[in-house]
Amino acid sequence: MIEMFHVYKSYVEGIDVLMDVNLHVSKGEFVFLTGVSGAGKTTLLRLMNCTERATSGQVLIRRRNVARLTSSSIPYLRRNIGVVYQDFKLIRRRSVFDNVALALEVLGTPRAEVQRRVMDVLRSVGLQHKYLQYPPTLSGGEQQRVAIARAIVNDPAILLADEPTGNLDPDMTIEILKLLMDINNRGTTVLVATHDRSIIERLRFRTLVLEKGRIYH
Ligand SMILES: Nc1ncnc2c1ncn2[C@@H]1O[C@H](COP(=O)(O)OP(=O)(O)OP(=O)(O)O)[C@@H](O)[C@H]1O
Ligand SMILES: [Mg+2]
Repeated sequence: MIEMFHVYKSYVEGIDVLMDVNLHVSKGEFVFLTGVSGAGKTTLLRLMNCTERATSGQVLIRRRNVARLTSSSIPYLRRNIGVVYQDFKLIRRRSVFDNVALALEVLGTPRAEVQRRVMDVLRSVGLQHKYLQYPPTLSGGEQQRVAIARAIVNDPAILLADEPTGNLDPDMTIEILKLLMDINNRGTTVLVATHDRSIIERLRFRTLVLEKGRIYH
């Protein structure tokens, strides 16, 4: 599902953020990515999401070499990938419904289908009753659930979560992790970047460790 071969990434010439990264995440896996601040976790996710390009080496998403994609075909690849961030990145002045609906509307999804799928996905994260509220009126855990709903409404093959519980208390953290595991159980490949050792130790999924830009399995 996600493969990297000898991937190097530098933002500034001469400073490698990632060095000779090799990894393979299979379809349906749940994998943690960990490492101290600055180790390169977000950078690795950005390469998978095609928001950054590798300086050298190969990044394959569903067997496709992303370096060979034309800029017009990148949006098609991105449809296979949902992304969740630490700070939710919701649109404050749009309702919960609209925040999720937007992800379908940009694809030209018919109105009736948008209505149905948005309400279905909000139900799956337990927030159907809050669809008319605005993000600032929700708790952090609720906002993250909306962000997750937005990331999966399009039924992506891959879900990338970058410190999804970084702003949440321990109870909310557990709730969000359960939700990510539910999503994984329905067949989505899930990759979660976190530096929270307690989460990793509790759940015991395969963990990729980044240390000074190198991966340790
Ligand atoms: N756009 C950029 N331009 C220059 N350097 C960058 C850029 N983005 C990241 N870096 C550098 O790359 C290194 C890795 O950053 P990255 O954000 O991938 O780490 P991280 O593991 O996600 O850290 P954190 O746990 O703090 O989120 C850091 O040294 C950072 O300063
Ligand atoms: Mg990061």
